[in-house]
Amino acid sequence: MKIIVEPRYEEVSKSAARIIAREIISKTDPVLGLPTGDTPKRTYELLVEYYRDGLVDFSSVTTFNLDEYYPISKDDPKSFARYMEDRLFTQVNLARDSINFPDSTIAENEIEQYCEKYERKISEAGGIDLLILGIGQNGHIGFNEPGVNFGTRTRLVDLRKETLEANFENPAEAPKRALTMGIKSIMRARKLLLLANGKRKSTPIKKSLTGPITTDWPASVLQLHPDLTVILDEDASRELEDQRGGSAGN
Ligand code: GLP
Repeated sequence: MKIIVEPRYEEVSKSAARIIAREIISKTDPVLGLPTGDTPKRTYELLVEYYRDGLVDFSSVTTFNLDEYYPISKDDPKSFARYMEDRLFTQVNLARDSINFPDSTIAENEIEQYCEKYERKISEAGGIDLLILGIGQNGHIGFNEPGVNFGTRTRLVDLRKETLEANFENPAEAPKRALTMGIKSIMRARKLLLLANGKRKSTPIKKSLTGPITTDWPASVLQLHPDLTVILDEDASRELEDQRGGSAGN
């Protein structure tokens, strides 16, 4: 595991955007796994800037998004589909048929089959080269909530109360379930990039990166990944005192 501590959110985003750009530039047909949330917003802005400046070409990139609320319409401003359309998909030269996104308009009785197809598509694309992740305050990755089985693949899950409270102003009106890649889908990516900023992430980061590997903190499974890079701002790293500024683990 490599831990990079940057002073602020801006530098975290720059560092992340550079790693993603490097992956795109150095691979013939790069396959990316993409997150949503507040954390990667600036990273996406920087990638769009790189594209506009002619530094990065997305024409051969394939993407798979991590998760989406269920059910939710693609036009709902709270949907991850809308988020990705506005921030990346319509801003760069990604080919439409290279964008893969968990479809939350699927009927419930077709979800199982649909999720299997999503996993198959990842395999057919050659697997994910670089998967970018944020972390929830309860240690979730994607929407894999505490207690998750580490053998899970893409599926429909129930969301925890604390997740709805963190993500919605009015949790009572929020969708209570989500489609998410599973822990196994995440762990089989060749490289993982975990981003976290802000004080509220310091405890989940400490528990997940230095604590025991446990389903209570789903992100703790990342300690087992052979190629994990973590980029934190100082606030998110403050409970990792002894590792600050350097690299930790294997
Ligand atoms: C959401 C998403 C995660 C994301 C996390 C952190 O619930 N399902 O993929 O990483 O919460 O979000 P944020 O970056 O807004 O803190």
